[in-house]
This record gives sequence, C-alpha cells and structure tokens, in this order.
Amino acid sequence: MRIRRLFLVLLGFAALAPFILTVPSIRAADTINTQQAKTLVSDAGAAKSMLTAGGADELGWQWFIWLNTPLTGVDPKVWEGWRQSSSVYLPNGAPPSPWGQEPAPPQAVIAAARQQGLNTNLPFHNLDSDVQSDGLALRDNYHQNVRYQILMNQDTFNYIVQTKVYNMNGQQAMAQANTPLNFPATAFEIKTSWIWIGTNKDILNKLQGKYYIVNAYYALVDASGVPTGVYQVGRAALSGMHIIAKPVPQWFWVTFQNVYDAQNTQSTNQLPISPDVQQLNRKYRGALQGMGSIFANYQMMGTQWQFVDSAGKPLLLANSQIESAFQGSSSCVTCHSTASYSVQNGYFNQVKEQDGGITYYTGEPPTDKMKGYNPQDFVWSLKRAQWQR
Ligand code: HEC
Repeated sequence: MRIRRLFLVLLGFAALAPFILTVPSIRAADTINTQQAKTLVSDAGAAKSMLTAGGADELGWQWFIWLNTPLTGVDPKVWEGWRQSSSVYLPNGAPPSPWGQEPAPPQAVIAAARQQGLNTNLPFHNLDSDVQSDGLALRDNYHQNVRYQILMNQDTFNYIVQTKVYNMNGQQAMAQANTPLNFPATAFEIKTSWIWIGTNKDILNKLQGKYYIVNAYYALVDASGVPTGVYQVGRAALSGMHIIAKPVPQWFWVTFQNVYDAQNTQSTNQLPISPDVQQLNRKYRGALQGMGSIFANYQMMGTQWQFVDSAGKPLLLANSQIESAFQGSSSCVTCHSTASYSVQNGYFNQVKEQDGGITYYTGEPPTDKMKGYNPQDFVWSLKRAQWQR
C-alpha cells in the first residue's frame, strides 16, 4: 500500500516535471515583481545586460510594470510623479522651477475641477498637444482630437537644467561650441496619448473599466495658437504610451497601447505584433488581470534598439495612436537619430525634405544629410524650447 502510494506520488511528479521546469519563467511572482522591475528602471547596467542577452521585449514590459506601479488602486503611478514638459520648456524661456516644485495647475482649472467633484489631491495632466510628429491630428470617435503629453524623469530633468537647454539660447550655445547633447544612461522620457472625456458621461461610461483614467486639462488656443486663458477640464483616458531610456547610446524604444483603441479612435494598427511579443503580452496581461489591474488592457506593440535587422532591412515600430498616418514608415530610432540643431538652419526637418517631398527616415541614420547639425541625443521634444529675451 505504502509503496504503491509512493509510486503514485513519483508518477505524479514525473508527469508534472515538464511544468515544474517551465514554471519559474511564467509564474506571476516573476512577471509582476515590482522590486525587480524597479531595478531594471533605475540600474542602466542591469537593463543593458537584459537587452544584450536578447531580453528586449521582456525589458519593455518590466519598464511598463514599474512605471505603472502601484498597479491597482487610485494612487498616482510612478510616471505621474515625473515632470511634464510643459513645465520645463517655458513660453518665456525662463529656467524651470526645481524638481518637486512643479507649479500647480491654473486656478481656473482647480475651480472647475472642484465644481465637477474631481479628486483634487490626484495629479492633473496638462495634455498640451494635439499634433503628431508629422504635424497632423488624429480624431477619436467622439469628434475630438486625440491629445498628447510628454514627461521626463529626474535624471533627464537635471541634465536639461544643468546644460541650460530648456531654452533656445542654451541649445544654440551647445551648437556653437559643437558640443553634442549627451543624456545620462538613466534618463527616461515618455510620450502618452489620450482620449478626451472631459465631463461627458457617455464617453466615461464607455471607457471606464477599460482605460486608465486621470484628471486632465488643456488650454484653448485661438486661430494663431495663442492661449485664450480658457481651459478644458475633466477626465482623460490613457490610450498609448511610448517609453524610452538610454541603457544603450541609441536609447531603447518601447511602445504600448490600449487593446480597445481601434473601437474608440479613427486609427488602427498597421504593423503586425511579432509572435514573441504576442506571447509576452498574454503572459503579462494574464498576470495583471489576475490582480485586477486596469493595465491588463494594455499591450506592447514592440521594442526597437537597432536600425536594421540582420539582413540589413529597416526595422519599423509604431503606435496607431501616436504615429497614426505613417506607421508603415515609422522607425523610432531612425527618426529620433536626426534630432539635431544648426545655428544656420534651425532644427533638422525629419518629415519634409527641402524640395517639399515627404521623407520619413528608416534604416541607418541619414548622416550625410546631417552635416553641420549638432546632435541633440535623440530627444526631439527639445524643439519645444523658446528664446529667453
Ligand atoms: C517621424 C519621426 C518620428 C518617429 C518615427 C517617432 N517619433 Fe517620437 N517624437 C518625434 C517628435 C518630432 C517628437 C517631439 C514631439 C513634441 O514635442 O510634441 C517626439 C517625441 C517623442 C518622445 C518624447 C521625448 C523626446 O524624445 O522628445 C518619446 C518618448 C518618443 N517620441 C518615442 C517614440 C517611439 C517609442 C517611437 C516609435 C514607436 C517614435 N517616437 C517614433 C518624432 C518621431
């Protein structure tokens, strides 16, 4: 009897063995391990080893996990404590207020938020842009433009303040001295896309439970782009998130979007998600769903840190909400490699060639065309800087 039982136990183990062996890599504890994810964000060396060992896609998800911690509940996520670019590149080119002392939203915004019953202890996101990098806008299914916001972590912010490139004067000085910009390895920037809810209950009901929703506002502008002093205030739903950081000199490029985007905006995905990424998406989204996280509704579209594949073919990556109209010719790393400034010609034009033809650079960087331009280390949003007079 006893031997028979032992035999059965052993037989059970033998049958389970293949599963036991594969368990460590799929266990939720390994997938959602915020300490490990935090290390992969704060330790550029750890991120680089994962990347060079073939773990690019896994690293992309780990960054998403840490940046969106706490993964459940209403408390602000890690990235919501980062600095909005609207408070760094100021209209008068003045130095930004120190880290941690981001100016409060305008009084009119707070007053409207109170009236709407929004929780004013939570962050307010200034969704200050509705144009994509080709200068075009994307419409949602509610007759409004999709909105955008760029945020940076403290190491990025410190570098911008120290080098004084928050205004044009600083960027011009760097170009005159032929000093290429060089952000630290732990610099992070994100670009997010948003479906505007405002105070519309129908849109809210449609998106609630599917999207991560925050307090938000933006300034209304007149026909020539000048703020009117009037603000739109309400809620907005996170539809997409680009994440970049610099464990390698050409940065590492990652993009996520909500799985319901195609039902809510006028743009659908045109590039395939690779089978490897699809498998990772199932693993992470399953784990997030198991813990009741809203982020289970987000999928990674892919990652990029090389210009071309082993056959020399340009690598592409796009987010349907952020590179809507040019997904088929979107290479994050190539387009951003042209981020540069020349005292004579201004910023390098990555979209239109001099003759008026439209060019989206993919593959190896067009270095011959960039002679005379001072490289700005892949950071295109430095274009937002103004002159301090
Ligand atoms: C055709 C050129 C182009 C392509 C392709 C492109 N971007 Fe950008 N990106 C820009 C421009 C221009 C800005 C600045 C936008 C602004 O200031 O509003 C920007 C801003 C950003 C930012 C904010 C920080 C910064 O560098 O300014 C991030 C992060 C970002 N892009 C990530 C990505 C990712 C990830 C991809 C690929 C999925 C991508 N981009 C594809 C042109 C491009």
